[in-house]
Amino acid sequence: MLHKSVLLNETIFAINPQSGGIYVDMTLGAGGHTRKLLEKSAPDGIVIAFDKDEKAISYASETLKREFKDRLILVHDNYSNCLARVREFGFDKVDGAVMDLGLSLDQIKGQDRGFSFLTDGPLDMRMDKRKPLTAEKIVNGWEENELANILRIYGEERFAGRIARNIVRKRPIRSTKELASIVELCIPRHLYKKTHPATRVFQALRIVVNDELESLQKGLTDAIELLKSNGTICVISFHSLEDRVVKNIFREFKQKKELRLINKKPILPSKSEVMSNRRARSAKLRCAVKDNRLN
Ligand SMILES: C[S@@+](CC[C@H](N)C(=O)[O-])C[C@H]1O[C@@H](n2cnc3c(N)ncnc32)[C@H](O)[C@@H]1O
Repeated sequence: MLHKSVLLNETIFAINPQSGGIYVDMTLGAGGHTRKLLEKSAPDGIVIAFDKDEKAISYASETLKREFKDRLILVHDNYSNCLARVREFGFDKVDGAVMDLGLSLDQIKGQDRGFSFLTDGPLDMRMDKRKPLTAEKIVNGWEENELANILRIYGEERFAGRIARNIVRKRPIRSTKELASIVELCIPRHLYKKTHPATRVFQALRIVVNDELESLQKGLTDAIELLKSNGTICVISFHSLEDRVVKNIFREFKQKKELRLINKKPILPSKSEVMSNRRARSAKLRCAVKDNRLN
C-alpha cells in the first residue's frame, strides 16, 4: 500500500491504548492507525476496524489479520453502522475510536477508481463498489440546477452555475481528465490558486457519491455513544466541511456534558510531517474524552 498515515503519533498519544482495551478504527485504509493501536495494546487489546472499500479489507486480511489474528476484527461496512456492528461482536462499549477521514493514497492513485483528475480514469469515485451511484451518473444524468447546487454546497465552488452549464453542454463526459478540462475552461486563469481548478468539483462529486457528510454525522455520533467513560475519540479531517461537522458534534456533546475536549483548537501536523507527506498539509485532528460524570 502507498498510503502514509497522517498525525499517527498524535492520535495514538491521545488514545493511549492499553492492554486489554477495545478500540475501533472507523477508517482502516492501509491500516496504519490500526497497526499502532494493536501494537500499543499488546498482548491482548482488540481492534475492530471498518472500511467500506473492499480493497482495504482484503489487504488487511492478508497482512494485519495474519499477524494479529483474533485481536483484529475486520468489518466491510460503512462506519455509520458501527453501533450495531460493534455490538454484534459482543462489545457494548469501547475504550477509544479513531476516524481518519477522506481517501487513502491507494484510492486516489487507483486508475480505475476515478478519484483523481491527475490520472485519466472512469468517472466512478465509489469507495464502496456495491453502491449504485457513480460520479458518471451524476455528471451525465443530473439536472443542471442539481449539479450547480452540489458544486456550490459540497465544493464551495464560486463558479458552480457556469461549470454546471458547461458540463450539461458537453455531455456525455466519460473520463476524469475530460471533466477536469471542462472545469478548467470555466474558471478565469488569474483565479487559479495553489490547487488545481477542478479540486472543488471533484471534492463535491466524491462527497455526494459516498454520502460522506451524512455518514460522518451518524458515524461520529454513534462512535461517541459507543465510548466507555473516559474513552477517547480522535477525528482527522481534511477540509472545512468535514471539520465543521466534527466541531459541531463535539460542541453539542460538550454542551450536554457528555464530552470533554482535549484541545480547543485542532492539532495540526508538524512542518516535518507536511514536508514528508504533502497530503498531511490540510489535516486537522480533534480529540475528546467521554465525560465520566454522566456514566
Ligand atoms: C484516509 S484513509 C485511512 C487511512 C488509515 N488511517 C491509515 O493510516 O492507513 C480513509 C479510509 O476510510 C474509508 N472510509 C471513508 N468513509 C468511510 C465510511 N463512511 N465507512 C467506512 N469506511 C470509510 C475509505 O475507504 C478509506 O480507506
